[in-house]
Amino acid sequence: MTRLSGITPSGDIHLGNYLGAVRRWAAEAGPGDLYFVSDLHAMTLAHEPKRLRSGTRQLLAVMLAAGVPADSLFVQSDLVREHMALTWLLECTCTFGEAQRMIQFKEKGAGRESVRLSLLTYPVLMAADILLHGTEEVPVGEDQRQHVELARTLAQRFNSTYGEVFVVPRGVLPAAAARVRDLADPTRKMSKSSAEGNGVVYLLDPPEVVRRKFRRAVTDNLGEVRYDPEGQPGVANLLEILAACTGVTPERAAAGLGSYRELKEATAEAVLAELGPVRERTAELLADPAELDAVRAAGAELARERCGKRLDAALAAAGLG
Ligand code: TYM
Repeated sequence: MTRLSGITPSGDIHLGNYLGAVRRWAAEAGPGDLYFVSDLHAMTLAHEPKRLRSGTRQLLAVMLAAGVPADSLFVQSDLVREHMALTWLLECTCTFGEAQRMIQFKEKGAGRESVRLSLLTYPVLMAADILLHGTEEVPVGEDQRQHVELARTLAQRFNSTYGEVFVVPRGVLPAAAARVRDLADPTRKMSKSSAEGNGVVYLLDPPEVVRRKFRRAVTDNLGEVRYDPEGQPGVANLLEILAACTGVTPERAAAGLGSYRELKEATAEAVLAELGPVRERTAELLADPAELDAVRAAGAELARERCGKRLDAALAAAGLG
């Protein structure tokens, strides 16, 4: 089984990214798996080069600190030629209608006067990320499921048009925390691009900030700690976070909690216990640039070596070279 997944340095990493993705990558990583910082993806909206570079570094450090094995890590732009070459082949496999139907394109493009063309084509780059490395399973949160489906469709279409080149991947969601919601607005997912970060718990937030955000989390006026995602979305979100951090079901997590205050305190402490070691280790890694550079260089070499044959086969199958 080979797994691959990525995270984009388009803003600071938050609890949703951690519980829905990174923590799981660390727990499940096996030989041959790949986890990467998708820095090319961070350019689909206006970006600042300096912040992109430091954000990439920070995510690499967080992934290492969270326990993702060093030999499975790489940075996407270190393989920019390979990823872009396959993106072109897949853009020539994908239809305009398919790209336009992507929910994230509609959401991120909504209300903007002009959007970069790459915002439309980015799911095809994501398909290239997945197919280039022979991925069987793609562990992602709920919001990326549609993109993994597109990668499946493109793999099948390419294979049936030009011959069997790609493994057909499938997306896998986490058992818990597939869609962590914004604490200030539990109808929305927790997101790096949230306008004001009050409802977003960032991985590197200091403990007092984390406690404050949970204290202010929006709940309801029913006053009952019960797991009811439809009727009590704010409470359900807290229970899901608590459950994901303590390894029980949300229903079990609710047992014994008498008030919303208790629920918020228990959740904040469970989150801090989970994030504390990662935050400390990340700071150590960021203070030692040589170690991060070495991991990055070795990861790029390994990933490049392993994907070269598949890219050559795809180019040849399509009539190039
Ligand atoms: P990104 O950086 O938006 O998110 C990284 C991972 O975090 C998950 N996630 C969440 N999970 C639970 N609750 C949330 N509120 C939440 N928000 C985000 C995402 O589902 C994702 O798994 N395009 C991708 C990165 C990417 C990629 C790939 C992933 C690029 N190429 C190839 C898989 C395979 C992205 O921007 O994720």
